[in-house]
Amino acid sequence: MADRGNVVLIGFMGTGKTAIGKRLAQALGKQFIDTDQEIERVTGMTIAQIFNRHGEIRFRSEEKLAIKRACSSTNAVIATGGGAVLDKENIAIIKGCGRVICLTARPEVIQNRIKRKDNRPLLQKDKSIGKITELLSEREACYKKCAEIFFDTSDEEHEQVVNRVLNFLRSKTNEKC
Ligand code: S3P
Repeated sequence: MADRGNVVLIGFMGTGKTAIGKRLAQALGKQFIDTDQEIERVTGMTIAQIFNRHGEIRFRSEEKLAIKRACSSTNAVIATGGGAVLDKENIAIIKGCGRVICLTARPEVIQNRIKRKDNRPLLQKDKSIGKITELLSEREACYKKCAEIFFDTSDEEHEQVVNRVLNFLRSKTNEKC
């Protein structure tokens, strides 16, 4: 794979992809792209509006386009939506575009982070630990297929996670020499 200098963050909702991705991009001097924000910009709708008006299938097709566009960049930190890796083609595109890092968190931590937010249609009606665990276990294999490394964000400040990611990226750069 030609090194295009991209870093892709994958992982479940509420694991910190956007917040950590922004800081990581700043630390690396790279552009930050959030595929959900790109979908909202391109469609002129919020993610919730796309789900409510047009359904999940339409959202997933917008998501695929956003991933293709984001992954054609160079020198970017790309934060993806939690369900992006459910699609095989997305997995191939993501893995082909840069280093892939999966952020994780314990179900109770995820619940705590998302509980007062209404911007996640898949957890709109049911934000229970049971629902979160169910979705997590459905997706676990997909995250494993895609990621090179996992970082648990449950008990750390964003800055600490960023430092751990930076150390990992440095170790990979040194490997090449
Ligand atoms: C989704 C996660 C969301 C967003 C959409 C669907 C998912 O992104 O893409 O609501 O299927 O897990 P975040 O992971 O950034 O919340």
